[in-house]
Amino acid sequence: MQEKLKEIFEWFHRNPELSYAEYRTTERIRQLLTDAGIEILPYTLETGLAAVIRGEKKGPVQALRCDIDALPVTEETGLPYASETPGRMHACGHDFHITAGLGTAFLLRERKRELAGTVKILFQPGEESSLGALKMLETDVMKDVERIWGLHADPTNAAGVIGLREGAVAAAVDRFVITIKGVGCHGAHPDDGVDPIPAACAVVQALQTIVTRNVNAFHPSLISVTRIEAGKTWNVIPPEAWLEGTVRTMDRADRELFQKKTALIAEKTAEAYGAQAEAKWIPGPPAVINDAKMAEFAADTARRLGFTVVPEEQSLGGDDFSFYEEKIPGCYIKIGTGKGQLIHQPGFAVEESVLEPAAKYLAAVLMGAYIS
Ligand code: NI
Repeated sequence: MQEKLKEIFEWFHRNPELSYAEYRTTERIRQLLTDAGIEILPYTLETGLAAVIRGEKKGPVQALRCDIDALPVTEETGLPYASETPGRMHACGHDFHITAGLGTAFLLRERKRELAGTVKILFQPGEESSLGALKMLETDVMKDVERIWGLHADPTNAAGVIGLREGAVAAAVDRFVITIKGVGCHGAHPDDGVDPIPAACAVVQALQTIVTRNVNAFHPSLISVTRIEAGKTWNVIPPEAWLEGTVRTMDRADRELFQKKTALIAEKTAEAYGAQAEAKWIPGPPAVINDAKMAEFAADTARRLGFTVVPEEQSLGGDDFSFYEEKIPGCYIKIGTGKGQLIHQPGFAVEESVLEPAAKYLAAVLMGAYIS
């Protein structure tokens, strides 16, 4: 199967498409599944699709999530099958996820007789937008699913090393925008107005105290102000300033604390400077939390098949996989793809030797995953 998977992987790598524009990607997946005699569920998704393998033995309904979108990055790997589109690249390994998902589907199809239960393979669009999972959830594909598995390429580990742990592995990803209103005036007469810029600067500094003074020091979290904007020229004090940034947390109570404190610090600090602030909170996906039993089962399966298992690294990055986990238990497995440049970088590459082992491993997890 390795040769077949290599060919599949290289096609997807050559043809990356951005979030919600995965049209050719979806068509290719559909074709490969159809050729293998695998049933595709009849959902009307613009991009992405869900396949199903119905085992002949009784068992649970499980899902495997494979995201399919690429990033606006220009590839610099020099690979013979590099992206054919400048400014677009599978720099997060989702081409590997598609290939591993297809390989898993082929294997499960062959073993339908031994398969206990049903497996749905979700080829999900728009993961990089943080909201693609919601597109899948708008259909009723998850209605009867009892547990969900996810995978991610991991360039910090050698090819085939499996990273697993129970509990939080990726963060809740929230965004905030703060508008600070002052009163514009002549740059030489600040006393005639209310300068929003010193207020904005004070808010930026004070926000960091949420991490250092309010959150339990053993809880990973961060707040970053990533955009600050005010003014048009050198001799006019502007009437408004804007701050924008992101908050990452792994604990639900911390997430609520950040939301409250961000608004409070913005409003009260601005008030002390005579200005007015308004904080808008734009929630993204919650933290990715691995179910303890599923993580243990996946680690045992990996060891049984001869894979090396290491503790999965926690990240304050996010994955919309967590939207599925709001309703059912899930487990997000990291699969080493060869040490090299990190994901989202132009030199990120997946070692092709991992393709078949990854598919075999995921198929084994889904075949034996009856966890009571
Ligand atoms: Ni990714």
